[in-house]
Amino acid sequence: MDSRNGLGAPQETSDADIESFFESAPPLRDSFNVSRKVKEFIERNSRSFENGRSTRVVCVTSGGTTVPLEQRCVRFIDNFSSGHRGATSTEYFVKAGYAVIFLHRRGTCQPYCGSLPEDSLLDCFELTEDSTVQACPSHAEAVKRAIRNHHAAVEEGLLLKLPYTTIFEYLQILRVIAISMRSIGSCGMFYLAAAVSDFYVPWESMAEHKIQSAAGPLDMRLAPVPKMLSVLRNKWAPAAFCISFKLETDPKILLEKADKALRKYKMHMVVANELSTRNEEVVVISSSDRIAVRREHQNEDVEKHLIDLLVERHAVYIEKSSTVALTGEVV
Ligand code: PMT
Repeated sequence: MDSRNGLGAPQETSDADIESFFESAPPLRDSFNVSRKVKEFIERNSRSFENGRSTRVVCVTSGGTTVPLEQRCVRFIDNFSSGHRGATSTEYFVKAGYAVIFLHRRGTCQPYCGSLPEDSLLDCFELTEDSTVQACPSHAEAVKRAIRNHHAAVEEGLLLKLPYTTIFEYLQILRVIAISMRSIGSCGMFYLAAAVSDFYVPWESMAEHKIQSAAGPLDMRLAPVPKMLSVLRNKWAPAAFCISFKLETDPKILLEKADKALRKYKMHMVVANELSTRNEEVVVISSSDRIAVRREHQNEDVEKHLIDLLVERHAVYIEKSSTVALTGEVV
């Protein structure tokens, strides 16, 4: 997140900053399997057809990245994101027929679990007299619905869940996904709802062991995390439809900053939201309009209307991109 409160010169990210971030990051655990799963998921879905068109694929990022302070991590910097936006949006994308790569922070909200209590395993189930496990009557309907919807999405091959914890893991997996999504061109979408750290401790300058408190006050220099939006748009997946988010706590600067992000990173749309009202309303900004999207009542998700709008705009974008491909015309 941007920590400058709208003041000061924006940081510029060069290709060299991005290269050096990846070169110095600790290697991604299980990277071979992550790449394989992503590739297979995209290939399978790009071959499958629904309503006469190939399945569209969206990468939804969700939750907040951590910044470790020690290589053998005891302490880390975290942020507020619960993952509600990403998890709920995933459900509506699946409902709209999209295949979803759900890149989420471990331990944050999961699709289809929104109506379950927080400690769902212990609160939703009970033991019968003969020690079998059954859903508690008060939660039985919610549990059945969650299991049914989740299994349907996974069995239909429409949901791939990939977890991350640190900023290093998040950006490395995002790059793997983006480069694989290149093959599906405009049928791919990025929906970047994760709250990504703006500052981090580079791996090589990080203490290996637990920082000792006896050494007195802690003085630590954090480096800016390179913004990956430009490289995602320009190099990794240039034809994909890209939606980023802009979060502020001060409503006076929100729309202006979202507008700036739209132009600077050449996003197709930016979803602007304010911390305290983020579950009630958002403003979707594109080069041609600004649309306020609100939930109509308390039991409704703002994501329902938001995803409807994005799916509609993505369809127009795909249509325009195929016209350009056929005629060479600039739309
Ligand atoms: O998870 P919830 O509790 O439901 O909350 C949802 C949300 C508020 C986290 C979500 O709606 C949201 O706004 N997510 C983006 C928050 C954020 O980091 O905003 P930002 O203005 O600091 O960053 C703007 C964009 O730049 C983001 O899309 C981010 O993916 C991207 N970014 C940020 C930092 C960075 N170093 N590189 C990036 O690419």
